[in-house]
Amino acid sequence: MAATHQAAILPQKGGPLTVGERATPEPGPNEVLIEVKAVALNPVDYFQRDLGMPPVPIYPAVIGSDSAGIVAKLGANVSTVPGPGSRVIAFASSFYQNGSPDHGAFQKYALAQSESVVALPDALSFKEGAVFPLAVMTALTAWTTVGIPLDTKYAPQDKQAVLIWGAASSVGAFAVQSAKTLGFTIYATASAKHHEYIKKLGAHAVFDYKASDVVSQIVDAVRRDGVNLHTTHCVVNESLQPTLHVLKETKGDAAAKVAHSPVLPKDHPTLDKTEIKFNFPSMNKAVRDKHMYQCFHGWLQDGLRSGSVVPSPSIQVEGGGLEGLNPALDKLKAGVSGIKIVVPI
Ligand SMILES: NC(=O)c1ccc[n+]([C@@H]2O[C@H](COP(=O)([O-])OP(=O)(O)OC[C@H]3O[C@@H](n4cnc5c(N)ncnc54)[C@H](OP(=O)(O)O)[C@@H]3O)[C@@H](O)[C@H]2O)c1
Repeated sequence: MAATHQAAILPQKGGPLTVGERATPEPGPNEVLIEVKAVALNPVDYFQRDLGMPPVPIYPAVIGSDSAGIVAKLGANVSTVPGPGSRVIAFASSFYQNGSPDHGAFQKYALAQSESVVALPDALSFKEGAVFPLAVMTALTAWTTVGIPLDTKYAPQDKQAVLIWGAASSVGAFAVQSAKTLGFTIYATASAKHHEYIKKLGAHAVFDYKASDVVSQIVDAVRRDGVNLHTTHCVVNESLQPTLHVLKETKGDAAAKVAHSPVLPKDHPTLDKTEIKFNFPSMNKAVRDKHMYQCFHGWLQDGLRSGSVVPSPSIQVEGGGLEGLNPALDKLKAGVSGIKIVVPI
C-alpha cells in the first residue's frame, strides 16, 4: 500500500473541496482501513462544506460518511469484520471521531470503527452498498430515540401503527424498511410518483403530502383500519405540524411520540402528552458504539443476508470521482426526489 492517497479535502469553512494527497493512516485497534470504491452523499455533507455546521473541529477536514469498498487492513482487536480483500459497507464519519480527517469517507482510504463495517453481499455493487450507512443509522436511531428497542416485534393483533412523514427521502425509505421489520402498520407520505415504490418497501398506505386534505386522508385511513397510531417519525422539514394534526385525531387522550430528524426549530409546535425528540444517537461513546453495532451488525447485516433489506431509494450515479464531489453536492443541495446520489471514486 502506498504511503499517501488522494482525498477531497475541505481546507476551510465555505469550501470548495479540493483534491490533494494525504498520509494513509494505520487503523487503531478497533478500526478498519477501507479502500473506498464508492461514496453516497447526505445533506450534512454540504452543510459542513458550506457552513461548517455541524461543527468541523479540524481543518483541513475530510467530510462524508457513506462508503463501500474493500478492507485494506484490520485493527489488532477487530474480529467482527471480514479480512483484507473483503467487500464491505462502512460508515466512515469524522463527526463521531472528534473531526479526525482520517475518518471521513471522501477519500481513497478511510478509517471506520469496526461496529459500523459489515460485509457487502456479492449481489450488490459498491455503488449500491454506499447508500446504506448514515440513512440506516438515522432511521434506526429514530426508534430508540422514542424508546422503541430495535428487537421489537409487534404482531398484527397488536395493531401498532407508525406515520413516516417524508418516506421518499433516503432516511425515510429506511424508516419504512425498518418499521416493517419491527412489525408496524406503516402510513407514509411522499409525492404521488413514489407511492408504489414505498409500498414495495413495506408501507401499508402512502399519502401525497401536497394534497390539501392529506391530514384527514391519513386520519380516515387509520380509523378505518382500526389501528393505534401513537408513534411518528418526522423525517423532513415542515413535517411536524401536519404530523401533530394527525396525532391529535388518532391518539385521543393517550401519550404519543415523535422522532424528528431535522434539527427542531426553536419555537416548534407542540401537542398535549406528546414527546417530540430530536433524532440523534447518544453522545456517550460506549452507548453509541453498542447502538451502532446493533444497527449495522444486527439489523443491516441480518436484513442483507435474508434479502429483506434492499438499497433504497433509487441510485443516481454522478461521475468525476473525487473531483466530481463538489458538483454532486450542489445537485443534492438543489433538491432531490426519491434518489440517493452516489459517486464512484
Ligand atoms: N438527525 C440526524 O442525525 C440526521 C441524519 C441524517 C439526515 N438528517 C436529516 O434528515 C432529513 C432527511 O435527510 P435525507 O438525506 O433522507 O433527505 P433527502 O433524501 O435529500 O430528502 C429528499 C426527499 O424529501 C422529501 N420531502 C421534502 N419535503 C417534504 C415534505 N414536506 N413532506 C414529505 N416529503 C418531503 C422529498 O419527497 P418527494 O420526492 O416525495 O417529494 C424528497 O424525496 C434532512 O433534514 C437531514 O438533514 C438528520
